[in-house]
Amino acid sequence: MNYWKSPLVIGSRSFGRFIGSPLDGVTNVPFRQTVRLFSPEALLYTEICHCDTIVNDEPKKWGLEVGEPFINFQISSADETYIERACERLITHGITMVDINIGCPAKTVVNKGAGSALMGDLPRLKKIISLCRACLSVALTVKMRAGFKDYNALEVAQMLQDLGIDALCVHPRLQSQGFSGEPDYALVGQIKKALSIPVFVSGGITSWPIAKIVYEATGVDGFLIGRALIGTPWLLLQLARESQGMHYIINNTDIHATMMYHLDSAVSWLGPSRGLAYFKKHLKVYARHLGYEYPQSIELLSSSCPVECKRLCATMQKLR
Ligand SMILES: Cc1cc2nc3c(=O)[nH]c(=O)nc-3n(C[C@H](O)[C@H](O)[C@H](O)COP(=O)(O)O)c2cc1C
Repeated sequence: MNYWKSPLVIGSRSFGRFIGSPLDGVTNVPFRQTVRLFSPEALLYTEICHCDTIVNDEPKKWGLEVGEPFINFQISSADETYIERACERLITHGITMVDINIGCPAKTVVNKGAGSALMGDLPRLKKIISLCRACLSVALTVKMRAGFKDYNALEVAQMLQDLGIDALCVHPRLQSQGFSGEPDYALVGQIKKALSIPVFVSGGITSWPIAKIVYEATGVDGFLIGRALIGTPWLLLQLARESQGMHYIINNTDIHATMMYHLDSAVSWLGPSRGLAYFKKHLKVYARHLGYEYPQSIELLSSSCPVECKRLCATMQKLR
């Protein structure tokens, strides 16, 4: 069967091969709602959420809209303390699947022993994954790096598969590399070859030609799209169409309507001040799609209230 036309199967569920990657501060409810205008059934990761927040706060604080379909809810934890109760709450709230973050490079996370630090502490990692697996009836995935200080991704990947996870995402950079430097796709290819569960790649997948080259080099089962989705929420649909030999061109009217929807959704979910600050992460890119380059977009980015920003955004299409 044609790889690009066949679905990605994780546990008992099927999805498209292009998936929304977790981006802290970006892939929140308004973002996911906006992506779903184009790709209603795509699998989208949430932002990272610590297990203690899930146990101690309400779903809105976890960044979850109750009943939201097709999400991979990403959790992080440095130990087993909150895991059982967090998993129980996630299941009660109808989560499609759960992902454990063992790749976050941020000092605030790593210093507590969570995120990528877990790749440097395999006994602790084993305990956390085993407990999650025992608590969860839904699919369980893990998102990892090439390693913490040193490369050990192959060993960790094998251990995770043996512990019963359903799929693995590899972002092939070390913790010290953060989010820059060439991703080591050869490493992803080695992991894919060694494992029987689905393996996804994350890092640098920004277009269909790149996805095709990476597939041919690695044989991976799915592609996480991260920063390329910022201000471009139609990209998962575009990749899906182009991978099946179709063209996809979004017109200015649709870009504009999407941008306005995203702004409204951000303000309604986060409130005026946080909503606007969040939306500006996307606005520069939307503006660029509409043909506005810096410094034309500077007035937009300095608007200090959503009403003013909305008024300026509303004029953009007319100017073009
Ligand atoms: C601002 C930002 C926030 C991120 N937040 C998360 C996160 O919450 N969880 C996670 O697993 N990875 C996170 N990542 C990593 C991305 O999911 C992804 O692996 C990385 O950006 C490489 O993919 P890309 O080149 O498609 O962006 C983040 C990356 C960035 C740049």
